[in-house]
Amino acid sequence: MKLNIAVLPGDGIGPEIMEQALRVTKLICQKFGHELITKTALVGAVAIDEVGNPYPDTTHDLCMNSDAVLFGAIGHPRFDNDPSAKVRPEQGLLAMRKKLGLYANIRPVIVFDSLLDKSPLKLDRIQGVDFVAIRELTGGIYFGQPQGRSENGDTAFDSCVYTRMEVERILELAFQFAMKRNKRLTVVDKANVLATSRLWRQIAKEMEPKFPEVTVDYMFVDNAAMQIIQWPKKFDVMVTENMFGDILTDEASVISGSMGLLPSASIGIHTSVFEPIHGSYPQAAGLNIANPCATILSAAMMFEYAFSLMEEGALIRKAVEASIVAGAVTEDLADDKSKALSTSAVGDWIIEYLSK
Ligand code: IPM
Ligand code: MN
Repeated sequence: MKLNIAVLPGDGIGPEIMEQALRVTKLICQKFGHELITKTALVGAVAIDEVGNPYPDTTHDLCMNSDAVLFGAIGHPRFDNDPSAKVRPEQGLLAMRKKLGLYANIRPVIVFDSLLDKSPLKLDRIQGVDFVAIRELTGGIYFGQPQGRSENGDTAFDSCVYTRMEVERILELAFQFAMKRNKRLTVVDKANVLATSRLWRQIAKEMEPKFPEVTVDYMFVDNAAMQIIQWPKKFDVMVTENMFGDILTDEASVISGSMGLLPSASIGIHTSVFEPIHGSYPQAAGLNIANPCATILSAAMMFEYAFSLMEEGALIRKAVEASIVAGAVTEDLADDKSKALSTSAVGDWIIEYLSK
């Protein structure tokens, strides 16, 4: 098969973790006889610096003309600490999601047995955790208009907006995921307070008869935040709106022991994007210490979701798991920090494993 991939390393640790994910992707393609074509483009703070736009048209064109996008990370402290900045790196990521129509962000949450002790949560609570969080990605308060400031600057407003079409398509996808898994779906909202949540709940209830085999439960987001930590095993497929999903999946990463382990797939109308859920970790940029596994696992999701190459994806996952079992891990996961491997050394280990 021919794989045309757009590579968007982005900011901070993005280029370092991407390098490892690309090495793995190349090797897998060689091993399975696929032709890999990669083209790299600018996104984020680096794109602002070079061309004044965090998601340049040339980058968008490349994404549109590729079969899949591998994305590193976005964000720079220079902008975080400057609320008056007119252009922000995050706008690049949001523009990319919107322009590619990536309305569904799929974030699997699993635990590796060999890392159970890395989670701050008790072992019996997390052993066997395996759920998928589906986050709506192109609507809600991230994009709602109006957004801004009053004339005197003393009032600020964001709007949370959802249309029936936006809610239906993400719920449809979530029901289908539930059908493929254990047929349990949790719809997370704040229907006791928010009008948008009541629309979500109404539509979900309307759709229930279409999927009679799926058991649906409805949970307020504050309760969900607690249940994820207390009883994570009770979840199978969880679906929620954009900002709730952003927050709950960071929380969920604690279950697996490190944010550096969780991959994601963003799918929708045009080319799908595969990216780790973590950010650009600027403190670690250039130090070769960041965990590349979330990005490597995102590449695994790319093989599966964008190309239906299941064996390829499974082999990458197996290699990552083997590296963790062998203790070939970066400092976020190392028992003894002095024995932690560098980003590239973890990449070397995984490459060697795959070359056997
Ligand atoms: C994520 C990130 C982004 C988001 C930021 C960088 C805009 O936190 O992908 O979860 O909030 O969606
Ligand atoms: Mn986030």
